[in-house]
Amino acid sequence: MAGKIIIANWKMKLGLGVSIDLAKEIASDLMLDKIGESEVVICPSFIAINEVGKILSPSKIKLGAQDVFWQENGAYTGEVSVEMLQELGCKYFIIGHSERRQYLGETNEMINKKARVILRSGEVPIVCVGETLEERRQGKKDYIIMHQVERALQDVKILDNQEIIIAYEPVWVIGTGRAVEPEEVKYVADLIRKIAQEHYSSKNSLMVIYGGSVDSSNVRAFSERGGVDGFLVGAASLDAREFMKMIDMVAN
Ligand code: PGA
Repeated sequence: MAGKIIIANWKMKLGLGVSIDLAKEIASDLMLDKIGESEVVICPSFIAINEVGKILSPSKIKLGAQDVFWQENGAYTGEVSVEMLQELGCKYFIIGHSERRQYLGETNEMINKKARVILRSGEVPIVCVGETLEERRQGKKDYIIMHQVERALQDVKILDNQEIIIAYEPVWVIGTGRAVEPEEVKYVADLIRKIAQEHYSSKNSLMVIYGGSVDSSNVRAFSERGGVDGFLVGAASLDAREFMKMIDMVAN
C-alpha cells in the first residue's frame, strides 16, 4: 500500500442509531476524496456492521470487525465467524486487543488461532500487542512485545498474497489522551518487524501500526517520526471532524 492505513475502533461505545449517523458523516466527507493513497477502515460494534457497511460501500472506506471466533462454524453460542462477517463485507479483524486480553481472558493461544482462520479466509488480522504499565516499570516491555508477537504468529507462514497488521498499543496509554514519544514507537515498530520477519517472505505482507491516544494533535509526529504504516484510533475516531482531520494530516 502506498499510503498509510487508519483504522477506527468504535469499541462498545456506539449503538446502531449513532453508528449510522457517524458513518454517514464520515462517508459523505471522505467521499470528497480526502483519503488520497491512504486506506481507511471502520470497525463498528457487531450489531452495527451491516448497516454501517451499506453506508460505506459506495465509498473507499473499508469495513472491519473488533473481534472474531477461531472456529469456522458450529455450536459456539454467542460467537461470530469470519465467514459471517465476510458476508457483511468485513476485510479486517482486530484480535488480541488489550481490553479483550484484560476483561475476556483472551490468550496468546486464542489470538494465534484467530490469526490463522482469518488468514486462511483471505482476510487481514490486526494483532494488538503491548505492555502494561507494571510490565514497563519492571523493564519487561521488549520481552512482552516479543513474546506476544511470537506467540500470535506461532507456526504461521504469511503467504505473499496475504497481509497481516501488527498494532503496537501500550496498554497504559490507551484512552488516556497521553501518547508515547514517536521515537519509542519507531523502536518498537522496528523490533516487531525483526521478530515477524521469519513469518513472511514478501515485505508487503506485514504492516506495523501504532495505537494509543492518537489524535489530530500528535498524528503528524507519529506519521513522520514513528516509523509506522498507520494507526489504530479509538476515542478520536468517534468524532467525524476530528477523524477527518487526522486522515487529512496523514494523507497529505
Ligand atoms: P484510544 O484507543 O485511541 O482511545 O487510546 C485505541 C485503541 O484501544 O485501539
